[in-house]
Amino acid sequence: MLFALSALLQLACLVSAQTVYLAGDSTMAKGGGGGGTDGWGVYLPQYLNIPVVNMAVGGTSARSYSESGLFNNLVNAVKAGDFVIIEFGHNDAHANPDNGKQDAVGDGYDITAVVTNAAGQQILIHSFAYYIENAINPMKAKGATVIISSVTPDNIWTGNTVGVGGRFVDYAQSIGRNESIIYVDHNAYVGQAYDNLGQTTVNTFYPNDHLHTSPAGANVVAQAFVRGLLCSKTSNLIPHVNSAGQAVPNGCL
Ligand SMILES: *[C@@H]1O[C@H](CO)[C@@H](O)[C@H](O)[C@H]1NC(C)=O
Repeated sequence: MLFALSALLQLACLVSAQTVYLAGDSTMAKGGGGGGTDGWGVYLPQYLNIPVVNMAVGGTSARSYSESGLFNNLVNAVKAGDFVIIEFGHNDAHANPDNGKQDAVGDGYDITAVVTNAAGQQILIHSFAYYIENAINPMKAKGATVIISSVTPDNIWTGNTVGVGGRFVDYAQSIGRNESIIYVDHNAYVGQAYDNLGQTTVNTFYPNDHLHTSPAGANVVAQAFVRGLLCSKTSNLIPHVNSAGQAVPNGCL
């Protein structure tokens, strides 16, 4: 009887264990863009008290993550109570011929475009919001909490300010609003962290290009996400931020 009870308790514990899943590109993925760089998702577990499964894949866009079945894998993996953080945009820009990654340009679910691929065929593509919202809905239906996070800034400065914003930031914000999910303006929070550190320090985070961070840079980007999350106030992921996460630098925007 006691044994059966403890087995049951263990099972209940296993079933209730929550997981944070990450979907994104090289700026989030393990190993980043190669050459000693790393993605911010690798550093996020330091700031949470529940496990993180980093399913970010370098080179992906909202569209290619969807069309290659990676979003489906994620939908299949999540269970009630889990969290999913989605962040795309670096590989979603316009391309001619089509590169399998670009999205139809525009802010809205229903936007489509017909583009020509490398083989000369005309194909129909959809918007950034379409690919992401189609993944969000089944995750929500399974009882997962989805957080949409805006794309990280590139290391390009004007005076003492790193460049922030852009259409993929706007698109992510619209998805958050339309889907009634938590939106973390990661782009702006990284911008704040970088401006406070200054360009000389931030340049050391970018050994190869203006996109992929060193491990130290990826940690700053992870901290900026945690700051944005804490400032979002209503997320039910906040109780899972540990003391190191509570202590990340900078304030609410
Ligand atoms: C937001 O909702 C409006 C109204 O339903 C829709 O037209 C638009 O495409 C949606 N935008 C996004 C980003 O989903």
